[in-house]
Amino acid sequence: QEGDAAAGATVFKKCAICHVADTDKNKVGPSLNRILGRKAATHPNFSYSPAMKKAGEGGLVWDEATLRDYLHDPKGKIKGTKMVFAGLKDDSEINNLIAYLKQFSQ
Ligand code: HEM
Repeated sequence: QEGDAAAGATVFKKCAICHVADTDKNKVGPSLNRILGRKAATHPNFSYSPAMKKAGEGGLVWDEATLRDYLHDPKGKIKGTKMVFAGLKDDSEINNLIAYLKQFSQ
């Protein structure tokens, strides 16, 4: 079901130490601006891990399903990712977060 973007803004606080969504600025992690529909490891001027580059070259595109998968278990989903984040266990948190990210993916 559709998430709640306002609640997703709160969830995004867990990501914001490393990511912005509202601009193209890279921090420790790549900008998540226009992440929905974006091929993995393609944001300009960010030094991705070999594992993330390989995933993008293999055709990984970030959509609701692939983001949900990755955010559940980043290191399990992409072996060798340099994103140091345990993941989100709660599906409603992930739905809300995706609704929030969609606002910056128009
Ligand atoms: C990569 C989302 C938390 C650091 C990514 C990517 C996504 C993402 C979608 C792939 C981007 C792309 O292919 O361009 C999120 C979300 C988070 C979160 C939604 C919170 C729920 C964090 C945190 C950190 C972090 C807390 C830092 C401690 C990174 C790094 C990468 C990355 C370094 C590049 C990974 C690589 O090249 O292997 N993140 N992230 N992320 N994220 Fe996060």
